[in-house]
Amino acid sequence: YRMAIIQVAVLTVSDTASLDANADKSGPAIRSILNTNQGLSCNNHLVVPDDVHRIQEVIKKWAERDGIDWIITTGGTGFGVRDLTPEAIKPLLEREASGLVHLLLSTSLKHTPLAALSRPVAGTIGSTLIVTLPGSVKAVKENLDALLTAGLVQHAVDLIK
Ligand code: MTE
Repeated sequence: YRMAIIQVAVLTVSDTASLDANADKSGPAIRSILNTNQGLSCNNHLVVPDDVHRIQEVIKKWAERDGIDWIITTGGTGFGVRDLTPEAIKPLLEREASGLVHLLLSTSLKHTPLAALSRPVAGTIGSTLIVTLPGSVKAVKENLDALLTAGLVQHAVDLIK
């Protein structure tokens, strides 16, 4: 049982959604899942195109901010040539969380063999946890379910404070 509510920031990475906010389905899906969990709160949500510098700009700013415990990105983890989210995030991580990556991949592979083509990264920058999720609503539901089961993220956030 923990008193403090985990503050989550969501970054949607998508060329399409950056041009038309209505095209962002997975960002709002993440927010609605977070809102159903009393221990989590999301007050920051941005959309950027599939651009390494634009992604890094937001992640660095959020990681430096005191009030953000957990950054979730959605999109751009796949095999397409425009999928650059792992390349943007990985060099920023101070410590990689390969266990979380294993969890995401093993969970996702139970749902679809296509998960083998997603390239999630996870880790910490200072006292902020960062996890990259795929861009589909189905995938974010399945992945968040795995991360929130057994208080995993809650425990991770406690450990890096
Ligand atoms: N993971 C889960 N749990 N469920 C899914 O439906 N879809 C996959 C994969 N991971 C999927 C999943 C698909 S189709 C792709 S292309 C990759 O995630 C990468 O998605 P992204 O490029 O939108 O990040």
